[in-house]
Amino acid sequence: MPEKIPWPFTRLYDRGPNRFFTRWFQRIASDVRERGITGNILDIGTGPGRLPIEIAKQVKDARLFGVDLSQDMIKIARENAGMEGIGDRVEFRMASAYATGFESGSMDLVVSTETLHHLAKPLAAFNEIYRILKPGGQAWLFDGRKDASKAEYEETARMLGIVDLPLPYRFFKTMWPRAHTGYKTEVYTTGKLGKAIETSPFKKAKYIKQGAYIRIELKKH
Ligand SMILES: C[S@@+](CC[C@H](N)C(=O)[O-])C[C@H]1O[C@@H](n2cnc3c(N)ncnc32)[C@H](O)[C@@H]1O
Repeated sequence: MPEKIPWPFTRLYDRGPNRFFTRWFQRIASDVRERGITGNILDIGTGPGRLPIEIAKQVKDARLFGVDLSQDMIKIARENAGMEGIGDRVEFRMASAYATGFESGSMDLVVSTETLHHLAKPLAAFNEIYRILKPGGQAWLFDGRKDASKAEYEETARMLGIVDLPLPYRFFKTMWPRAHTGYKTEVYTTGKLGKAIETSPFKKAKYIKQGAYIRIELKKH
């Protein structure tokens, strides 16, 4: 999987699959609100920016940031925030997961969806997340699992609101394993990603299977 999504796939991604993720992003945003997390929140590999936009809508006293390697994704994200009328509360910058450009100890929460499987240097990303988090700050990293069962696919499709839409559901079931080739659950827990977390200053993580996804929670003590 290449790291950066280039134009014109940026535009196809924004108009296609990413729109179906809105309910997922709203759910993550509700979780941020319910857990009372405020302050500075950064989304890594933000793509079209819909996750920080949804968090900004639900968590009024948070300042949202998004970084992505792709200049065109950043342009799309800014346009999307502008259309939602919250361009002043969400800031998008072109930057890498390995060197985000934020000050050490400046973030209350780091989030990321569908980006871990793109990273060529996951350890560098975990080190960077640790550096920019405040003590006590958390990271919630979500990504797909190639080995999800039929029931788990259905659970996620229900959550996304596509279980009764034959075309999007078929697209999801066909494309999901392809997009996550090489990313079975153990890659995240004990394999390449899990080992990188153990080597990083986080040392350990909480792994939660949610439908076709995995949610990895990290905490800076
Ligand atoms: C599949 S998209 C996910 C976008 C969005 N988070 C979502 O869930 O729809 C992965 C994004 O990660 C970005 N990306 C990949 N490697 C990156 C890196 N090293 N640093 C920052 N962004 C990266 C890509 O350009 C792309 O926009």
